[in-house]
Amino acid sequence: MALSCACLLRSTMAVHWHVLFYCVCLLSVVLGVSRDNFKTCDQSGFCKRQRAMVPGHSHYVVELSSINMTPSSLELEVVNKKNNVRFKLELYALANNMARIKFNELSPLKPRYEIPIGDVLVKEPVLQSLKLVSQDSNSITTVFENTRVVITANPFRIDFITSDQPTVSFNTQGLLKFEHLRKKQGLLSRIGTSIYSWFSTPFRTAQPAEPAQEAAAENQEEKKEEQAPTPEAENSEPDMWEETFKSFVDSKPNGPSSVGIDISFPGFEHVYGIPEHADSFALKSTKSTDPYRLYNLDVFEYELYNPMALYGSVPVMLAHNEQKTVGVFWQNAAETWVDISSNVADKNFFNKMLDFVKGDQDIPQIDTHWFSESGIIDVFVMLGPKPQDVFSQYASLTGTTPLPPLYALSYHQSRWNYNDEEDVRNVDSNFDVHDIPYDVLWLDIEHTDGKRYFTWDSAKFPNPEDMVANLSSKGRKLVTIVDPHIKRDDNYRIYAEAKQKNLFIKNKDGGEYDGWCWPGSSSWPDFLEPAVRQWWASKFDPSEYKGTNNDVVTWNDMNEPSVFNGPEITLLKDAIHLSGWEHRDVHNVYGMHQHRATVEGQALKTNNHERSFVLSRSFFAGSQKYGAIWTGDNTGEWSHLKITVPMMLSLNVVGMTFSGADVGGFFRNPDDELLTRWYQAGAFQPFFRLHSHLDTKRREPWLLPEQNKNIIRAAVHTRYTFLPYWYTVFYQSEKTGSPVMMPLWVEYPEDSTTFKMDDQYLIGSALLVKPVVDQGIATMDIYFPGKGEVWYDILDFKTYAGGQTVKVDTPLDKIHAYQRGGHIIARKYRMRRSSTFMKNDPFTLFVCLSTNEISKGQLYIDDYHSNNYKKGDFVLREFVFENHKLTSRPLNKSSYRSKEWLERIIIVGLVKMPRKTTMHVEGSAPQDLDSQYFTETKVLVIRKPGVNIADNWTINIE
Ligand code: GLC
Repeated sequence: MALSCACLLRSTMAVHWHVLFYCVCLLSVVLGVSRDNFKTCDQSGFCKRQRAMVPGHSHYVVELSSINMTPSSLELEVVNKKNNVRFKLELYALANNMARIKFNELSPLKPRYEIPIGDVLVKEPVLQSLKLVSQDSNSITTVFENTRVVITANPFRIDFITSDQPTVSFNTQGLLKFEHLRKKQGLLSRIGTSIYSWFSTPFRTAQPAEPAQEAAAENQEEKKEEQAPTPEAENSEPDMWEETFKSFVDSKPNGPSSVGIDISFPGFEHVYGIPEHADSFALKSTKSTDPYRLYNLDVFEYELYNPMALYGSVPVMLAHNEQKTVGVFWQNAAETWVDISSNVADKNFFNKMLDFVKGDQDIPQIDTHWFSESGIIDVFVMLGPKPQDVFSQYASLTGTTPLPPLYALSYHQSRWNYNDEEDVRNVDSNFDVHDIPYDVLWLDIEHTDGKRYFTWDSAKFPNPEDMVANLSSKGRKLVTIVDPHIKRDDNYRIYAEAKQKNLFIKNKDGGEYDGWCWPGSSSWPDFLEPAVRQWWASKFDPSEYKGTNNDVVTWNDMNEPSVFNGPEITLLKDAIHLSGWEHRDVHNVYGMHQHRATVEGQALKTNNHERSFVLSRSFFAGSQKYGAIWTGDNTGEWSHLKITVPMMLSLNVVGMTFSGADVGGFFRNPDDELLTRWYQAGAFQPFFRLHSHLDTKRREPWLLPEQNKNIIRAAVHTRYTFLPYWYTVFYQSEKTGSPVMMPLWVEYPEDSTTFKMDDQYLIGSALLVKPVVDQGIATMDIYFPGKGEVWYDILDFKTYAGGQTVKVDTPLDKIHAYQRGGHIIARKYRMRRSSTFMKNDPFTLFVCLSTNEISKGQLYIDDYHSNNYKKGDFVLREFVFENHKLTSRPLNKSSYRSKEWLERIIIVGLVKMPRKTTMHVEGSAPQDLDSQYFTETKVLVIRKPGVNIADNWTINIE
């Protein structure tokens, strides 16, 4: 704490009152260290109420006679027998082996928030045929593809049965609890309804009910209440109409509005996903902890291995077993909690409909319980059955990460802060002096004029154009930070404009929301509004954002949003968005919309010619469409290095492929060994950036002892040699939604040894990585998957048979990465200043043979920066080695050509020394190639095939 205070004082010494302000706000941030700045379930009214539900007979009963079938959906009315409130249940069969379940009040007092199409879902999901199979007095059975959906009326439950196996079930524990909107008993609580009248802005939408409708709804509700008086208990809990946390009062004008239901996965023992948590990859039972919480928060010095919320939320869970993978996506933007427990399936129930239970054995089952503070129940069921199917199903709903420009996949150098232009120049040139490639230099908040984003501190950065030009001359980029809090200063043009145009979020009384963040008193643009995003996007044009050009890209931080003096360091839930919705309804999508607006700005300023790069700290389902995220303010400790792998696996399996962690840890000073190991790990994670707190010691690689510096250089260089592979894997991920960094079970779905594994992983399908994450160890165990397969050490081609665990040595200079036999990877070996300068460099093909001497791989190339690839300007090649012939053939038709050529082919695992190698290039005479065979390693090196990488050719090895 003293550490942080000192640094902020130093940074603000110049302006007196700032010192005071920063101390106060820092204190509030620092206090955030303690868990008690964040709610436990017990301190959250709706969490407590939902969690208090006891498994048993559900009060909700389906009225089967109300059935309304369309060719691809069915609708039913459901009644809560306790209070006679009526609900609408909708079931849709979706293309691609998915279904959607929606559950809402039949006639709510006013509309409940539903995320508009285009915000999270890329489009209205495509429907497919749903057929009614049978109906009896207590159930309805429908079918789509090979799945039967059985809706049981009383007790209400829904079961998905695929190929006679129960797969996903709803409300089997009877935990459905949907808090209908109601009037406060005793007095007419109109606060929540009248508030909309304060917003006579151009942004007011028709979403919240108009007063006339509200009155009608209230009348209806009154009638309902007359018919079935709401039980006292339902309205009388103290935190239903107002909730207090520390000194913060949530006025809750709409009263209780939470929604929850249990979802079970019969036959499964492992579930994954629902990031962001600093926890293991395989999710744990929450029986003795709080539920996993999804509520985007700025958690200072977050702790590891607990279910507390962090900066982003993706309410998507996958279940995997030896036979299949399925998933659910809970589309709700409000605060959400998820309980998990291990159980056994209800054999009695399933026995009635299927030959489910073979013998007496218990069938394992994971039970989960999901609840959100408001909105509706809207769940997508993704039925796989293979891991890749679930990834593409989810991708078809929420999109994929567009291929990043190559520089973004390269190494990034950041720190809070590079102080001035001279500092930037020195850091930049030292990379060249020490022969370490890097692509992007980052400027944190101190580069601005008093944390007024889109401006420069003119004393420290008087000539940003020249600074950027110097970086550009080396093929490098600059990132500047642009946070969402806007300093409330009428002389700051961004603030003045936003105020005049009425673009800020409002407090409950209708005034501009005023909170504290880095600049002091600030307001927050309402990025949920398209017009606000458009305005924001226009600010990135160099005519507006002086000193920038197309080589300057962006970092969006603090966009949970972080509000130093708000409850749980964020916005009050009763703040009101321009559309009239409460912040409560949309909290978890706020950051994504800033990310989106910034990406729109990047696109606009280059006329959509260049691919954008924007890093965001906060995210939601669908954020993957906008670019990279990172795991926020981690700590320079071994445990934090270790947690990077499970955290990134959790992100990757729910579509957030482009993610990373601050190398070295944000807080504290890692020692030389830790920093070196962290570089080695980071070099094999998707987003690779060194970053640290203002008050940490400088940690540029040349400040470390020579040995460490050399090892770091080698790690960064290794990253650059693999850039063609990263690029190809990201291209494939854009097409299919597959993770970039993935758990072993994606490739080895039947190997249960891998189900809990989160200390090693695959990049694409061809590379196995296990970083060293423990101090001072001499050896570690590595599991090589795939019986009958073979793995090759990327450094010395040492082989490891699949299906075994091997103890390997861990000297400090060793990176543990292994290429899979049967897979071909293209790499580039020339050491350059930046990836931009590698553009025309030649490739080396690493052809690692399987035990039966077969191998295959792809290479994707384009101009590495523009959107022209979307028009087909790219080359996608396939290389196949079979019968001692290596062939290169095109997988796309394109006139795109680059100068990149093939310099070397390394065939690994070739048992017999060949007599000669001959190359046949389409349209030319055969030509003998120079090659050398190394008996000990069984490696054949073929020199200078010299062809353009887009040529068609075959090499015969005789
Ligand atoms: C937040 C970010 C961190 C950044 C700092 C100052 O703590 O997570 O990366 O350096 O703010 O902008």
